[in-house]
Amino acid sequence: MQTENRCSNKDSGNKDITILAIESSCDETAAAVVRNGREVLSNIISSQIDLHTLYGGVVPEIASRKHIERISQVIGEALQEAGTKLDQMDAVAVTYGPGLVGALLVGVSAAKAISFASGLPLVGVHHIEGHISANYIDNKELEPPFVCLVVSGGHSHLVRVKDYGAYEILGRTRDDAAGEAFDKVARAIGLGYPGGPKIDKVSKEGNPDAIQFPRAKVAGAVYDFSFSGLKSAVLNYLNSCEMKGISVCQADVAASFQKAVVDVLVEHSMQAVRECGLKKLAIAGGVASNTALRAALEKECAANGIAFYRPTPIMCTDNAAMIGAAAYYEFCNGVRHGYDLNAVPNLKLGERI
Ligand code: KG4
Ligand code: ZN
Repeated sequence: MQTENRCSNKDSGNKDITILAIESSCDETAAAVVRNGREVLSNIISSQIDLHTLYGGVVPEIASRKHIERISQVIGEALQEAGTKLDQMDAVAVTYGPGLVGALLVGVSAAKAISFASGLPLVGVHHIEGHISANYIDNKELEPPFVCLVVSGGHSHLVRVKDYGAYEILGRTRDDAAGEAFDKVARAIGLGYPGGPKIDKVSKEGNPDAIQFPRAKVAGAVYDFSFSGLKSAVLNYLNSCEMKGISVCQADVAASFQKAVVDVLVEHSMQAVRECGLKKLAIAGGVASNTALRAALEKECAANGIAFYRPTPIMCTDNAAMIGAAAYYEFCNGVRHGYDLNAVPNLKLGERI
Protein backbone atom coordinates (compact mmCIF):
# COMPACT_ATOMS: atom_id res chain seq x y z
CA MET A 1 0.00 0.00 0.00
CA GLN A 2 1.15 3.53 -0.81
CA THR A 3 -0.11 6.85 0.45
CA GLU A 4 -0.24 10.11 -1.40
CA ASN A 5 -0.97 13.58 -0.14
CA ARG A 6 -4.52 14.30 0.97
CA CYS A 7 -6.73 14.54 -2.11
CA SER A 8 -8.55 17.61 -3.17
CA ASN A 9 -12.15 16.85 -2.41
CA LYS A 10 -15.51 18.56 -2.54
CA ASP A 11 -15.31 19.62 1.07
CA SER A 12 -12.29 21.71 0.20
CA GLY A 13 -14.18 23.32 -2.65
CA ASN A 14 -12.76 21.13 -5.39
CA LYS A 15 -14.12 18.55 -7.77
CA ASP A 16 -16.48 15.69 -6.97
CA ILE A 17 -14.94 12.32 -6.21
CA THR A 18 -16.90 9.40 -7.67
CA ILE A 19 -15.98 5.86 -6.72
CA LEU A 20 -16.99 2.47 -8.11
CA ALA A 21 -17.12 0.12 -5.11
CA ILE A 22 -17.23 -3.67 -5.01
CA GLU A 23 -18.16 -5.98 -2.11
CA SER A 24 -18.02 -9.79 -2.13
CA SER A 25 -16.82 -10.79 1.35
CA CYS A 26 -19.64 -13.21 2.17
CA ASP A 27 -22.85 -14.10 0.34
CA GLU A 28 -23.75 -10.82 -1.35
CA THR A 29 -22.27 -9.85 -4.72
CA ALA A 30 -22.52 -6.08 -4.71
CA ALA A 31 -21.36 -3.01 -6.63
CA ALA A 32 -22.20 0.66 -6.19
CA VAL A 33 -21.31 4.10 -7.44
CA VAL A 34 -20.90 6.66 -4.65
CA ARG A 35 -20.13 10.38 -4.95
CA ASN A 36 -18.21 12.23 -2.25
CA GLY A 37 -18.73 9.40 0.23
CA ARG A 38 -22.35 10.21 0.99
CA GLU A 39 -24.34 10.30 -2.23
CA VAL A 40 -25.33 6.89 -3.60
CA LEU A 41 -25.79 6.95 -7.38
CA SER A 42 -26.45 3.21 -7.56
CA ASN A 43 -26.35 0.25 -5.19
CA ILE A 44 -26.77 -3.19 -6.76
CA ILE A 45 -26.94 -6.22 -4.45
CA SER A 46 -27.23 -9.75 -5.78
CA SER A 47 -28.02 -11.92 -2.76
CA GLN A 48 -27.25 -15.63 -2.67
CA ILE A 49 -29.34 -16.15 0.44
CA ASP A 50 -31.90 -18.51 -1.15
CA LEU A 51 -29.11 -20.81 -2.27
CA HIS A 52 -27.43 -20.98 1.14
CA THR A 53 -30.78 -21.40 2.92
CA LEU A 54 -30.90 -24.92 1.42
CA TYR A 55 -27.83 -25.77 3.56
CA GLY A 56 -28.78 -23.83 6.71
CA GLY A 57 -25.88 -21.37 6.38
CA VAL A 58 -23.30 -19.91 4.00
CA VAL A 59 -21.30 -22.56 2.09
CA PRO A 60 -17.98 -20.85 1.19
CA GLU A 61 -17.32 -22.75 -2.07
CA ILE A 62 -20.81 -22.02 -3.36
CA ALA A 63 -20.44 -18.36 -2.38
CA SER A 64 -17.20 -18.01 -4.39
CA ARG A 65 -18.64 -19.73 -7.43
CA LYS A 66 -21.77 -17.55 -7.41
CA HIS A 67 -19.67 -14.37 -7.02
CA ILE A 68 -17.69 -15.36 -10.14
CA GLU A 69 -20.92 -15.90 -12.08
CA ARG A 70 -22.47 -12.60 -10.99
CA ILE A 71 -19.69 -10.05 -10.48
CA SER A 72 -19.29 -8.64 -14.00
CA GLN A 73 -23.00 -8.20 -14.49
CA VAL A 74 -23.47 -6.58 -11.07
CA ILE A 75 -20.64 -4.08 -11.76
CA GLY A 76 -22.14 -3.31 -15.19
CA GLU A 77 -25.55 -2.71 -13.64
CA ALA A 78 -24.09 -0.40 -10.99
CA LEU A 79 -22.45 1.80 -13.65
CA GLN A 80 -25.54 1.74 -15.84
CA GLU A 81 -27.99 2.59 -13.06
CA ALA A 82 -25.77 5.48 -11.96
CA GLY A 83 -25.76 6.73 -15.57
CA THR A 84 -21.98 6.77 -15.47
CA LYS A 85 -19.09 5.19 -17.33
CA LEU A 86 -15.85 3.84 -15.99
CA ASP A 87 -13.91 6.81 -17.31
CA GLN A 88 -16.01 9.12 -15.10
CA MET A 89 -14.81 7.33 -11.94
CA ASP A 90 -11.98 8.64 -9.77
CA ALA A 91 -11.16 5.29 -8.17
CA VAL A 92 -12.21 1.68 -7.88
CA ALA A 93 -12.64 0.37 -4.33
CA VAL A 94 -13.04 -3.14 -3.00
CA THR A 95 -13.46 -5.00 0.29
CA TYR A 96 -10.24 -6.99 0.84
CA GLY A 97 -11.01 -8.33 4.32
CA PRO A 98 -12.16 -9.68 6.64
CA GLY A 99 -14.40 -12.36 5.16
CA LEU A 100 -14.34 -15.66 3.29
CA VAL A 101 -11.08 -15.83 1.38
CA GLY A 102 -12.51 -17.33 -1.82
CA ALA A 103 -15.37 -14.85 -1.83
CA LEU A 104 -13.10 -11.86 -1.17
CA LEU A 105 -10.74 -12.92 -3.94
CA VAL A 106 -13.46 -12.58 -6.56
CA GLY A 107 -14.09 -8.91 -5.74
CA VAL A 108 -10.40 -8.14 -5.29
CA SER A 109 -9.52 -9.72 -8.65
CA ALA A 110 -12.32 -7.86 -10.42
CA ALA A 111 -11.26 -4.53 -8.89
CA LYS A 112 -7.60 -5.10 -9.78
CA ALA A 113 -8.53 -6.00 -13.36
CA ILE A 114 -10.65 -2.83 -13.69
CA SER A 115 -7.90 -0.72 -12.15
CA PHE A 116 -5.26 -2.21 -14.46
CA ALA A 117 -7.39 -1.84 -17.61
CA SER A 118 -8.65 1.68 -16.84
CA GLY A 119 -5.73 3.16 -14.94
CA LEU A 120 -8.05 4.11 -12.04
CA PRO A 121 -6.46 4.15 -8.58
CA LEU A 122 -7.26 1.07 -6.47
CA VAL A 123 -8.45 1.46 -2.87
CA GLY A 124 -8.81 -1.58 -0.61
CA VAL A 125 -11.40 -1.23 2.17
CA HIS A 126 -11.93 -2.99 5.49
CA HIS A 127 -15.40 -4.57 5.62
CA ILE A 128 -16.16 -3.27 9.12
CA GLU A 129 -15.05 0.21 8.14
CA GLY A 130 -17.63 -0.13 5.37
CA HIS A 131 -20.37 -1.07 7.85
CA ILE A 132 -19.49 1.90 10.06
CA SER A 133 -19.44 4.23 7.04
CA ALA A 134 -22.98 3.20 6.03
CA ASN A 135 -23.96 5.70 8.70
CA TYR A 136 -22.48 8.57 6.65
CA ILE A 137 -24.85 7.75 3.80
CA ASP A 138 -28.02 7.76 5.88
CA ASN A 139 -27.01 10.45 8.38
CA LYS A 140 -25.51 13.24 6.29
CA GLU A 141 -24.66 15.36 9.34
CA LEU A 142 -22.74 12.61 11.17
CA GLU A 143 -19.03 13.25 11.64
CA PRO A 144 -16.45 11.61 13.93
CA PRO A 145 -15.81 11.32 16.80
CA PHE A 146 -18.53 8.86 17.85
CA VAL A 147 -18.95 5.35 19.23
CA CYS A 148 -20.23 2.66 16.86
CA LEU A 149 -21.68 -0.71 17.79
CA VAL A 150 -20.97 -3.06 14.87
CA VAL A 151 -23.04 -6.24 15.06
CA SER A 152 -23.25 -8.65 12.15
CA GLY A 153 -23.11 -12.35 11.34
CA GLY A 154 -19.34 -12.39 11.62
CA HIS A 155 -18.51 -9.52 14.00
CA SER A 156 -19.53 -7.87 17.25
CA HIS A 157 -17.35 -4.84 17.96
CA LEU A 158 -17.67 -1.67 19.97
CA VAL A 159 -15.56 0.89 18.15
CA ARG A 160 -14.51 4.41 19.00
CA VAL A 161 -14.40 6.26 15.67
CA LYS A 162 -11.81 8.93 16.41
CA ASP A 163 -11.67 10.34 12.89
CA TYR A 164 -12.26 9.18 9.32
CA GLY A 165 -10.18 6.02 9.03
CA ALA A 166 -9.02 6.17 12.68
CA TYR A 167 -10.50 3.53 14.94
CA GLU A 168 -10.01 2.19 18.43
CA ILE A 169 -11.61 -1.15 19.24
CA LEU A 170 -13.08 -0.85 22.73
CA GLY A 171 -14.61 -4.33 22.87
CA ARG A 172 -15.29 -7.40 20.80
CA THR A 173 -16.95 -10.77 21.12
CA ARG A 174 -14.95 -13.53 22.78
CA ASP A 175 -16.85 -16.26 20.92
CA ASP A 176 -19.97 -16.06 18.73
CA ALA A 177 -20.92 -12.87 16.92
CA ALA A 178 -24.37 -11.49 17.79
CA GLY A 179 -25.79 -12.42 14.36
CA GLU A 180 -24.29 -15.90 14.64
CA ALA A 181 -26.14 -16.36 17.97
CA PHE A 182 -29.38 -15.22 16.32
CA ASP A 183 -28.84 -17.69 13.47
CA LYS A 184 -27.99 -20.63 15.77
CA VAL A 185 -30.89 -20.03 18.15
CA ALA A 186 -33.29 -19.60 15.22
CA ARG A 187 -32.20 -22.97 13.87
CA ALA A 188 -32.66 -24.59 17.31
CA ILE A 189 -36.23 -23.33 17.63
CA GLY A 190 -37.11 -24.34 14.08
CA LEU A 191 -37.16 -20.94 12.40
CA GLY A 192 -34.48 -21.66 9.79
CA TYR A 193 -31.88 -19.45 8.12
CA PRO A 194 -31.20 -16.52 8.23
CA GLY A 195 -32.28 -16.43 11.84
CA GLY A 196 -32.00 -12.76 12.76
CA PRO A 197 -34.95 -11.37 10.79
CA LYS A 198 -37.08 -14.39 11.71
CA ILE A 199 -36.41 -14.05 15.45
CA ASP A 200 -37.06 -10.31 15.17
CA LYS A 201 -40.46 -11.00 13.58
CA VAL A 202 -41.63 -13.86 15.80
CA SER A 203 -40.48 -12.03 18.96
CA LYS A 204 -43.22 -9.47 18.42
CA GLU A 205 -45.73 -12.22 19.36
CA GLY A 206 -43.76 -13.37 22.43
CA ASN A 207 -43.12 -12.31 26.03
CA PRO A 208 -39.50 -11.09 26.43
CA ASP A 209 -39.68 -11.71 30.19
CA ALA A 210 -41.04 -15.27 29.93
CA ILE A 211 -37.62 -16.95 30.38
CA GLN A 212 -34.62 -15.49 32.20
CA PHE A 213 -31.61 -16.14 29.97
CA PRO A 214 -28.13 -15.06 31.18
CA ARG A 215 -26.52 -11.68 30.35
CA ALA A 216 -22.84 -12.59 30.11
CA LYS A 217 -20.09 -10.33 31.41
CA VAL A 218 -16.43 -10.85 30.56
CA ALA A 219 -14.24 -10.42 33.62
CA GLY A 220 -11.74 -7.59 33.24
CA ALA A 221 -13.05 -6.49 29.84
CA VAL A 222 -16.18 -4.40 30.35
CA TYR A 223 -16.85 -3.81 26.67
CA ASP A 224 -16.32 -7.38 25.45
CA PHE A 225 -19.22 -9.65 24.58
CA SER A 226 -19.83 -13.37 24.93
CA PHE A 227 -22.86 -14.96 23.33
CA SER A 228 -22.02 -18.67 23.32
CA GLY A 229 -23.18 -19.11 26.95
CA LEU A 230 -26.52 -17.55 26.05
CA LYS A 231 -26.86 -19.83 23.05
CA SER A 232 -26.10 -22.87 25.28
CA ALA A 233 -28.65 -21.65 27.85
CA VAL A 234 -31.32 -21.60 25.13
CA LEU A 235 -30.34 -25.11 23.97
CA ASN A 236 -30.41 -26.37 27.59
CA TYR A 237 -33.84 -24.82 28.09
CA LEU A 238 -35.15 -26.55 24.94
CA ASN A 239 -33.65 -29.90 26.00
CA SER A 240 -35.06 -29.70 29.51
CA CYS A 241 -38.54 -28.85 28.15
CA GLU A 242 -38.32 -31.85 25.84
CA MET A 243 -37.24 -34.17 28.67
CA LYS A 244 -40.04 -32.95 30.90
CA GLY A 245 -42.58 -33.18 28.07
CA ILE A 246 -43.34 -29.43 28.33
CA SER A 247 -44.31 -27.74 25.06
CA VAL A 248 -42.09 -24.83 24.03
CA CYS A 249 -43.52 -21.46 23.07
CA GLN A 250 -41.34 -20.48 20.12
CA ALA A 251 -42.27 -16.80 20.35
CA ASP A 252 -41.46 -16.60 24.08
CA VAL A 253 -38.05 -18.27 23.58
CA ALA A 254 -37.28 -15.95 20.65
CA ALA A 255 -38.37 -12.82 22.53
CA SER A 256 -36.53 -13.77 25.74
CA PHE A 257 -33.32 -14.61 23.83
CA GLN A 258 -33.54 -11.39 21.82
CA LYS A 259 -34.04 -9.35 25.01
CA ALA A 260 -30.93 -10.95 26.56
CA VAL A 261 -28.84 -9.97 23.50
CA VAL A 262 -30.32 -6.47 23.26
CA ASP A 263 -29.85 -5.77 26.99
CA VAL A 264 -26.12 -6.55 26.77
CA LEU A 265 -25.59 -4.60 23.54
CA VAL A 266 -27.41 -1.56 24.93
CA GLU A 267 -25.65 -1.64 28.31
CA HIS A 268 -22.17 -1.89 26.77
CA SER A 269 -22.88 0.76 24.13
CA MET A 270 -24.23 3.26 26.62
CA GLN A 271 -21.32 2.68 28.98
CA ALA A 272 -18.84 3.14 26.13
CA VAL A 273 -20.34 6.39 24.87
CA ARG A 274 -20.51 7.72 28.43
CA GLU A 275 -16.95 6.74 29.37
CA CYS A 276 -15.54 8.06 26.09
CA GLY A 277 -17.16 11.40 26.92
CA LEU A 278 -18.94 11.42 23.55
CA LYS A 279 -22.47 12.45 22.69
CA LYS A 280 -22.97 10.34 19.56
CA LEU A 281 -23.74 6.64 19.16
CA ALA A 282 -24.10 4.84 15.83
CA ILE A 283 -24.93 1.22 15.01
CA ALA A 284 -23.98 -0.88 12.00
CA GLY A 285 -24.08 -4.41 10.57
CA GLY A 286 -26.89 -6.86 9.83
CA VAL A 287 -28.09 -7.08 13.46
CA ALA A 288 -28.37 -3.27 13.54
CA SER A 289 -31.64 -3.67 11.63
CA ASN A 290 -33.14 -5.52 14.62
CA THR A 291 -36.24 -3.58 15.63
CA ALA A 292 -35.93 -4.29 19.37
CA LEU A 293 -32.29 -3.15 19.40
CA ARG A 294 -33.08 0.04 17.49
CA ALA A 295 -36.02 0.85 19.77
CA ALA A 296 -34.04 0.17 22.97
CA LEU A 297 -31.06 2.28 21.87
CA GLU A 298 -33.29 5.07 20.67
CA LYS A 299 -34.97 5.19 24.09
CA GLU A 300 -31.74 5.04 26.09
CA CYS A 301 -30.03 7.65 23.94
CA ALA A 302 -33.00 10.02 24.17
CA ALA A 303 -33.04 9.61 27.96
CA ASN A 304 -29.31 10.39 28.21
CA GLY A 305 -28.99 13.25 25.72
CA ILE A 306 -27.04 11.14 23.20
CA ALA A 307 -27.63 11.54 19.46
CA PHE A 308 -28.44 8.13 17.97
CA TYR A 309 -27.53 7.30 14.36
CA ARG A 310 -28.54 4.20 12.43
CA PRO A 311 -28.45 3.25 8.77
CA THR A 312 -31.63 2.17 6.98
CA PRO A 313 -32.02 -1.65 7.09
CA ILE A 314 -30.73 -2.09 3.52
CA MET A 315 -27.55 -0.22 4.49
CA CYS A 316 -27.12 -2.42 7.58
CA THR A 317 -26.77 -5.57 5.53
CA ASP A 318 -23.75 -6.21 3.27
CA ASN A 319 -23.71 -3.79 0.33
CA ALA A 320 -21.17 -1.92 -1.78
CA ALA A 321 -22.42 1.63 -1.16
CA MET A 322 -20.99 1.45 2.36
CA ILE A 323 -17.65 0.37 0.84
CA GLY A 324 -17.82 3.39 -1.48
CA ALA A 325 -18.45 5.66 1.52
CA ALA A 326 -15.48 4.26 3.45
CA ALA A 327 -13.31 4.33 0.31
CA TYR A 328 -13.94 8.05 -0.19
CA TYR A 329 -12.37 8.92 3.16
CA GLU A 330 -9.52 6.44 2.60
CA PHE A 331 -8.96 7.95 -0.86
CA CYS A 332 -8.95 11.46 0.62
CA ASN A 333 -6.43 10.25 3.22
CA GLY A 334 -4.21 9.24 0.32
CA VAL A 335 -4.64 5.47 0.52
CA ARG A 336 -3.83 3.69 -2.75
CA HIS A 337 -3.21 -0.02 -3.21
CA GLY A 338 -1.03 -1.75 -5.79
CA TYR A 339 -1.78 -4.76 -7.95
CA ASP A 340 -0.33 -6.91 -5.19
CA LEU A 341 -3.48 -6.25 -3.13
CA ASN A 342 -4.63 -9.59 -1.76
CA ALA A 343 -7.66 -10.90 0.13
CA VAL A 344 -6.94 -10.85 3.88
CA PRO A 345 -9.59 -13.04 5.57
CA ASN A 346 -8.66 -11.94 9.12
CA LEU A 347 -7.80 -8.29 8.41
CA LYS A 348 -7.85 -6.21 11.62
CA LEU A 349 -9.71 -2.92 11.76
CA GLY A 350 -7.28 -0.04 11.39
CA GLU A 351 -4.59 -2.35 9.96
CA ARG A 352 -3.44 -1.31 6.50
CA ILE A 353 -1.75 -3.91 4.32
O1 KG4 B 1 -23.82 -7.57 8.08
P1 KG4 B 1 -24.42 -8.82 7.54
O2 KG4 B 1 -25.41 -8.71 6.41
O3 KG4 B 1 -23.32 -9.82 7.10
C1 KG4 B 1 -22.13 -10.01 7.80
O4 KG4 B 1 -21.17 -9.22 7.56
O5 KG4 B 1 -22.12 -10.92 8.65
O6 KG4 B 1 -25.13 -9.53 8.79
C2 KG4 B 1 -25.85 -10.72 8.67
C3 KG4 B 1 -26.35 -11.11 10.05
C4 KG4 B 1 -27.01 -12.48 10.09
O7 KG4 B 1 -26.50 -13.21 11.19
C5 KG4 B 1 -28.48 -12.15 10.28
O8 KG4 B 1 -29.21 -13.17 10.97
C6 KG4 B 1 -28.40 -10.88 11.09
O9 KG4 B 1 -27.32 -10.17 10.53
N1 KG4 B 1 -29.62 -10.08 11.00
C7 KG4 B 1 -30.41 -9.79 12.07
C8 KG4 B 1 -31.52 -9.06 11.56
N2 KG4 B 1 -31.35 -8.92 10.21
C9 KG4 B 1 -30.17 -9.54 9.89
N3 KG4 B 1 -30.28 -10.10 13.37
C10 KG4 B 1 -31.25 -9.68 14.20
N4 KG4 B 1 -32.35 -9.00 13.78
C11 KG4 B 1 -32.52 -8.66 12.49
N5 KG4 B 1 -33.60 -7.97 12.10
ZN1 ZN C 1 -21.02 -7.48 6.87
